[in-house]
Amino acid sequence: IPSGLDVVAEINRLRKEKNAVILAHYYQTGDIQDIADYVGDSLGLSQQAASTTADLIVFAGVHFMGETAKILNPSKKVVIPDLKAGCSLAESAEPNAFRAFREAHPDHVVITYINCSAEIKAMSDIICTSANAEKIVNSVPLDKPIIFAPDKNLGRYLIKKTGRDMLLWEGACIVHEAFAIDKLLELHKQHPTAKIIAHPESEDHLLKVAHYIGSTTGMINFVKNDSSQEYIVATEAGILHQMLKEAPQKSFIPAPSHEDNTCACSECAFMRLNTMQKLYLCLRYESPEIHVDEAIQRKALLPIQRMLEISK
Ligand code: 13P
Ligand code: SF4
Repeated sequence: IPSGLDVVAEINRLRKEKNAVILAHYYQTGDIQDIADYVGDSLGLSQQAASTTADLIVFAGVHFMGETAKILNPSKKVVIPDLKAGCSLAESAEPNAFRAFREAHPDHVVITYINCSAEIKAMSDIICTSANAEKIVNSVPLDKPIIFAPDKNLGRYLIKKTGRDMLLWEGACIVHEAFAIDKLLELHKQHPTAKIIAHPESEDHLLKVAHYIGSTTGMINFVKNDSSQEYIVATEAGILHQMLKEAPQKSFIPAPSHEDNTCACSECAFMRLNTMQKLYLCLRYESPEIHVDEAIQRKALLPIQRMLEISK
């Protein structure tokens, strides 16, 4: 990138010229969220990807999100700023092991969290996100046993919420599993009027002390409409940018992580691989592009469409 180049102006010029749409997740840095055409949670982003009329989808998120956009809208070109932006949850479900698990329980309905690869989606009956997971579980007839994958924490939370006994895959998000409950309770003692709000990818002991549990969009709506002034936020810290925009008079404290945590203070190292510079480069060169095998795309589309239908 030439020094002195106005990256923001260039992104704005190129997106018009190429009829591109920039979609960003709430875990992206503030500058990326601000330049995006749409910022949202995984459900909102999938809905946008499915309905966009743009020719080029620039997805500022992680790999499985770009892949989902491509599955939903295969005739569009989908690019992401950094192909290495993976996800610990998606990586926890290796396709051969997942196939064997599925085949060992052929009578089970397979509900899979959207944080997984296209191959895993192609082996699933219905996809869910944190925003609609409860609704999706409740949509399965009571006499049908369920496999829930890959997030065991969200799975456990859903078992409690719905009373359904589900077989869980042993996956987890490194960011949400790194929150330190002892430090969080200590912090709450110092801020006794603060409400603890948490994403359901967090561990059970943390969810037990949370005043509100929900998807990233759910958490933002909660702080906007709630009467408290202060919140301890147990999810990726990128979300604070949007919370401060929606409720500038309130204060938000990121939940503390264990000291030996590899990702600094509740930041997702995968999401943070994306930068404004890389966003500009991927828009300009239309690369790196997301490709999904055609047979897998067709199979993976069905369970995502079922989810979108139920979430209308
Ligand atoms: P949502 O934004 O759908 O709540 O998902 C959170 C997440 O972990 C995405 O990687
Ligand atoms: Fe995956 Fe967790 Fe990062 Fe979300 S925050 S992309 S679930 S590792």
